[in-house]
Amino acid sequence: MTQIDAKQVHSVLGRHQLADGYSFVLDLERSHGSWLVDGVTGKEYLDMFTCFASWPIGYNHPMMREEAFSKRLLTAAENNPANSDLYTGMMAEFVEAFATKVTPEGYDHHFWVAGGSLAVENAMKAAFDWKAHKLGLKEDGEEVDLVVLHFKQAFHGRSGYTMSVTNTDPNKVALFPKFQWPRVSNPYCEFDNDGNISNDVAAAEAVTMAEIDAAFECYADRIACILIEPMQGEGGDRHFRAEFLRELRRVADEREAMLIFDEVQTGFYGSGKPWLWQHLGVAPDIVCFSKKSQVGGIYANSRIDEVEDNVFAKSSRINSTWGGNLVDMVRCQRFIEIIEQEQLADNIHARGEQLLKGLRSIAKDTNAFSDVRGIGSLIAFTMETGELRDKAVAAFQERGVLALTSGEDSVRFRMPLVITAAEVDGALERIADAL
Ligand SMILES: Cc1ncc(COP(=O)(O)O)c(C=O)c1O
Repeated sequence: MTQIDAKQVHSVLGRHQLADGYSFVLDLERSHGSWLVDGVTGKEYLDMFTCFASWPIGYNHPMMREEAFSKRLLTAAENNPANSDLYTGMMAEFVEAFATKVTPEGYDHHFWVAGGSLAVENAMKAAFDWKAHKLGLKEDGEEVDLVVLHFKQAFHGRSGYTMSVTNTDPNKVALFPKFQWPRVSNPYCEFDNDGNISNDVAAAEAVTMAEIDAAFECYADRIACILIEPMQGEGGDRHFRAEFLRELRRVADEREAMLIFDEVQTGFYGSGKPWLWQHLGVAPDIVCFSKKSQVGGIYANSRIDEVEDNVFAKSSRINSTWGGNLVDMVRCQRFIEIIEQEQLADNIHARGEQLLKGLRSIAKDTNAFSDVRGIGSLIAFTMETGELRDKAVAAFQERGVLALTSGEDSVRFRMPLVITAAEVDGALERIADAL
């Protein structure tokens, strides 16, 4: 096997593909816990971006390196069955673990697929199918012009249907054909330096609810679902009040639309509970996940069973060759074991509180940023301009802290669930120094 030197990685990639990602090269063997190691310089970076919120338990976790588990993972990796139709004990063990430990009670339907966009796409398909049956639309012949009610600053992916609801950076969906589906304002909270809501969010919610009522009047019975990220990630770490989500629940019930939560970024313990919606106490009908669970997919409650021939009952309505990926499934099951054994949900909740407190204290002292917000691994703040924000993220990286931009003028941190109190303190020192 040829070995490409770390110094050559960017030039080799650049010859064959767009290679404008991070300037350092990830050394997978030397990276450890919350630390990424640059294969060229040996410099260590504290991982506060976790591969865009997708890597939960740090690098080279000892339980991932145990021999019995490595063997199991290798067996799955050496063979790649079409999980939708060809079943294995490994798959059944994963599904049992996920469905009984991660999925909350009351959600008996699951579907697995690779990637977040396709998770959301299939949630929409489940809702379209459900609504079409409810309206008595024929399987062929009749034009099905169902729509998805969604929100400004939403990010749901870059695949076919999801591009019609993604509206963050216009460059991401520009020029591609899209559906014109109803889009309403996003009444998000802003926070003062004590963590209290500082804007008139109730008034903003009232405006949005009026827009939603108007959309349901305009589209009559054609809105199949209300789709929302319970916290908008890419759009700027926008948090909503439980009161608002409860209103969405009410409208979805009254108007016979599915309520879909996209938890691709927030789910799988990112908030300190398996799902962010569990903190807010408003239960959706369908939840989309991917990123930290590695396996993408959706789970759904019994509302879908109002239609006998729903997509979870009738074969081939939603499907893909691999139906997820067995390696991802085996790995995800191990994550669940690690998270339980090391009580990582509690850890990340506490680390989130620690980071919030530290950032609010820096905000009070320096006025360098405001609107510190978040929960668990999902923490953000806002700067005066996008340029200042970009400079800050670059300065953090120089000081060995990897963070992400969020929306137009925010910084977001996406911590690994294993991060320690000392590492969070170290991050705060470097952040303060950079600012
Ligand atoms: C909320 C949300 N939905 C969907 C997606 C799309 O996931 P993927 O990039 O895996 O297709 C993302 C990705 O960032 C996301 O944050």
